[in-house]
Amino acid sequence: MRRTTPQDLLVRPFTILDQQWALLVAGSEHPNPMTVSWGGLGTLWDRPVATVYVRPTRFTFSLLEAQPFFTLNFLSEPYRAALDLCGSTSGRTTDKWRATSLGRVPGETVPVPRVAEADLALECRVLATLDLDPSRFLEPAIQELYPKKDYHRVFLGEVLMAFAAEKYLPQGD
Ligand SMILES: Cc1cc2nc3c(=O)[nH]c(=O)nc-3n(C[C@H](O)[C@H](O)[C@H](O)COP(=O)(O)O)c2cc1C
Repeated sequence: MRRTTPQDLLVRPFTILDQQWALLVAGSEHPNPMTVSWGGLGTLWDRPVATVYVRPTRFTFSLLEAQPFFTLNFLSEPYRAALDLCGSTSGRTTDKWRATSLGRVPGETVPVPRVAEADLALECRVLATLDLDPSRFLEPAIQELYPKKDYHRVFLGEVLMAFAAEKYLPQGD
């Protein structure tokens, strides 16, 4: 794993979250990993930004509200079962670190750890949040994704630092 700027990463933005999924870690005293597959990697306000969408029903939501930092961690296929667990149990009732045997390493630029087994990890500081407003959904099918009306809050995180395995870096770098 190497420290790098997000601008140098080789990632497929429309695939990495959708297919690989990621662990969003929030909270510093009792950090908690939650699986996410909706989000984006891009640019806003002249900064590299990772955007995540978190429903208010998630334990992670309260952690993000209490402390505006997160890490976004991408793991390889052998960890799929761990990601399944982190996407189907809540940190309110389960210590997901213990349940998955995943490790933590302290963040360097944020007070939230990264996942030790990640081969790509982004350290992010929340710049702003937005709440999805269903009155502005133009596609009716979107509403069906919210039977409980628990519309996502959008967390816009400036990527302060990236840690990447060689496969995410240009060759010869
Ligand atoms: C593949 C996958 C992707 C998910 N993506 C999201 C997401 O982007 N946003 C969200 O709020 N929940 C998402 N979830 C659901 C949460 O991971 C799940 O509710 C989790 O148990 C919440 O954990 P927490 O209560 O510890 O925060 C996803 C679940 C899976 C399995």
